[in-house]
Amino acid sequence: MSISTKDRSIIVTGAGRGIGESIARGLAVAGARLTIADINEDSARSVADSIVSEGGTAIGVAVDVVDRASVRAMIEATVTAHGRLDVMFNNAGIAQVRQFLDITEDDWHRVMDVNGLGVLIGIQEAVKQFISQGGGGKIVNTASIAGKQGYEPLAHYSASKFAVVALTQAAARAFGAHKININAICPGVVATDMWKLIDKGFKDEGLTSRENEAFENFSAGILLGRPSAADDLIGISQFLASSGSDYVTGQSIVVDGGMVLV
Ligand SMILES: NC(=O)c1ccc[n+]([C@@H]2O[C@H](COP(=O)([O-])OP(=O)(O)OC[C@H]3O[C@@H](n4cnc5c(N)ncnc54)[C@H](O)[C@@H]3O)[C@@H](O)[C@H]2O)c1
Repeated sequence: MSISTKDRSIIVTGAGRGIGESIARGLAVAGARLTIADINEDSARSVADSIVSEGGTAIGVAVDVVDRASVRAMIEATVTAHGRLDVMFNNAGIAQVRQFLDITEDDWHRVMDVNGLGVLIGIQEAVKQFISQGGGGKIVNTASIAGKQGYEPLAHYSASKFAVVALTQAAARAFGAHKININAICPGVVATDMWKLIDKGFKDEGLTSRENEAFENFSAGILLGRPSAADDLIGISQFLASSGSDYVTGQSIVVDGGMVLV
């Protein structure tokens, strides 16, 4: 048993910034060979270049996780560069603040598409690659504490993250026989650009009156006394990408400093 991820070929989607970037950098420092994938190709390439300049191994590719052909191309680029695929992090996601009665069909479809359908396609295409390699492999999906509790005014976002937890459980049941581990991480309040958008959303909806108020309110009860930094997700990512977690599957693990106790 080892928690080393040395030489593992790992894709992280949404790795052009935020949590995905931190996860990818943490894995690269631990010796993994990374594919930095993002809908923003410039940011994906810039993170990959920076990893390489620090002595790591990485390629940067454009992907839209909702587009199956694009996901397939990302996996093919990974296999070409690193020889195989060992671990897939389905991390890309979007958020939107909208009061319950104001959520439109368009809002629902946009958030559910990226966060739900994007994870479904990511799991499907990674599993096909793993099986073609002879089985084994790991998938780690980014859910949220909003995948454990429904938050107003983030009802559709919460529904999409419950969907990630459900897909994680169903896929673990479907592919355990192929020795494929499928788990999820549920971050809490993480200081990234996404939370800046959420904070602004609360203010725009008239739910808070000043910048950072929603962020501070959500962080107030955290047992460990501070909001999360993106780097707080590195340790769990290394564990779930390593053989140390070979007997863990179907789990959605909360890493929130103590907000949601389940
Ligand atoms: N920030 C938090 O507090 C928090 C908490 C719980 C869960 N999460 C989840 O963690 C993940 C990362 O969040 P973050 O805070 O780093 O967000 P972020 O907005 O800072 O970064 C998300 C990245 O995903 C990329 N992306 C968006 N849509 C994409 C698509 N269709 N295809 C490929 N890439 C796409 C963006 O370009 C961006 O680089 C998301 O799934 C989010 O829902 C975040």
